[in-house]
Amino acid sequence: DNERTTSPDTRGTGDELHQGVSGGNAMTTSQGIPMTDDQNQLRAGDRGPSLLQDAAFRDKIMHFDHERIPERVVHARGYGAHGVFESYDDHSDLTAAYLFGKKGRQTETFVRFSTVAGNMGSADLARDVRGFATKFYTEEGNWDLVGNNIPVFFIQDAIKFPDLVHSVKEEQDRGWPQAASAHDTFWDFISLMPESTHMALWAMSDRAIPRSFRFMEGFGVHTFRFVTADGKSSFVKFHWKPAQGMQSVVWNEAVKINGADADFHRRDLWNAIQSGDFPEYELGVQVFDDAFADSFDFDVLDSTKIIPEEIVPIRPLGKMTLNRVVDNVFSETEQVAFMTQNVVPGIDFTNDPLLQGRNFSYLDTQLSRLGSTNHTQLPVNAPKCPVAHFQRDGHMQFAHQRGRANYEPNGFSGDDRGPRALTTFQPDTYPTKVEGEARRLRAESFADHYSQANQFWKSQTEVEQKHIVDAFAFELGKCEIPEIRTRMLGNLRNVDESLAQRVADELAMELPEASPAKVAPRHDLPVSDALSIVKN
Ligand code: HEM
Repeated sequence: DNERTTSPDTRGTGDELHQGVSGGNAMTTSQGIPMTDDQNQLRAGDRGPSLLQDAAFRDKIMHFDHERIPERVVHARGYGAHGVFESYDDHSDLTAAYLFGKKGRQTETFVRFSTVAGNMGSADLARDVRGFATKFYTEEGNWDLVGNNIPVFFIQDAIKFPDLVHSVKEEQDRGWPQAASAHDTFWDFISLMPESTHMALWAMSDRAIPRSFRFMEGFGVHTFRFVTADGKSSFVKFHWKPAQGMQSVVWNEAVKINGADADFHRRDLWNAIQSGDFPEYELGVQVFDDAFADSFDFDVLDSTKIIPEEIVPIRPLGKMTLNRVVDNVFSETEQVAFMTQNVVPGIDFTNDPLLQGRNFSYLDTQLSRLGSTNHTQLPVNAPKCPVAHFQRDGHMQFAHQRGRANYEPNGFSGDDRGPRALTTFQPDTYPTKVEGEARRLRAESFADHYSQANQFWKSQTEVEQKHIVDAFAFELGKCEIPEIRTRMLGNLRNVDESLAQRVADELAMELPEASPAKVAPRHDLPVSDALSIVKN
């Protein structure tokens, strides 16, 4: 399916004409016309000006001039591979999704690992979150599990995503840093967004400098829904566990590796697959019901919180093996379009306001990045099951629906009639009850920003805690504006006094007042005002 349609041997009459003569290697223009000279433009006389009629030259240069497409607005630097997912069992007690319906059932996948903040040419060992995005080409269409290697996120509501990303990207007046690393705007934002504290701790931990893509976990982050064929629903959190185990580097190693080989992670993945040492990841879910969701200390719709595995253990579903590198990084890794809204029957969304926002953002951004609604027809994005609808035309259309009518209802029959929606199929949305006034105020259940940050800190070994202290001290030490350091230390006091004290000591600073421990969910106010609204 990834056949190169432009390779000489797939051409029609060219084979018998010029391709055949040179053993199939004859160079042509993009129109298939033989190139007689690829070294010289057509010019007037020996030293005269170039001639406009040199179509071969214009064809070549014009294509080159348009080689670049916009890089991803986030996760610009990434590396992809093909794989296969195999279900351990028949999981139809949990979900109607076909890919989980039978022991040994195999589904092709494509994975793209990434850093978040850096530009496309940035270094692999930046301290950053890693993306772990998987496209499952199932019999019922594509399911995209677009996750990260950290189980929580910086913000609770997608409306803050542009602000978060603007704060972490290169500063607009100077153009650096090109990758996630210490700077004022990021820590300014984080220190004013108490909800980001939990994720900030993970980001300062060893998780944010993985040894390679093969040695890290992945998480769907949000609470999703599984729905069975008879309409029974449960909440799930997705987890990927690497069969290779988890490993990180330490900061000094990361800095050296970045200098010596900025492509370290992509080279590692490519080498492993090419040598037959196929990376494996186990996919599992934490499963819980409405009663658990209601009894849990935190809101299961809040993506800044985890559900501890000690409370809800992971049920393994199957395993993915990455077994094939891409043929072409641009065609596959760059043009792959992951979209959270791609779910298959048996998998559904919840009301997590971060997930709901993502479901809008991904398709929207693909349109500006890939330039056409027909990006779904690119080999890496096209479903591997039949596709039938009444969409037509648009830029770069090359899939044709057969028949005469491309609307419905229509009264035609046979091929002329076209597809019909399967009204007897499982509903594509679980029928949840929706009620309440339209409002922007965030629910009270989203208000505790520090308890799980504290739990995370306590779960770390002494060595890991030292790495976190060092990372905060290094990062905050690079901030030029002293108030930002002070504000962040004020937040850290709410996580753990000893953490705050140790970071302050390394920065040779006095501990400031703690920030308000709880922040009322009045995020319709400017944050600085909201900070003064103390609960308790
Ligand atoms: C890209 C994960 C939140 C917008 C990505 C990618 C990953 C990812 C893994 C890279 C996909 C690839 O490799 O092609 C996450 C996770 C989130 C999150 C785990 C939170 C739990 C958000 C939010 C928004 C957003 C809240 C916007 C409202 C985007 C956009 C891209 C992207 C626009 C670029 C997509 C592309 O050009 O292909 N995200 N993201 N993300 N994400 Fe997110």
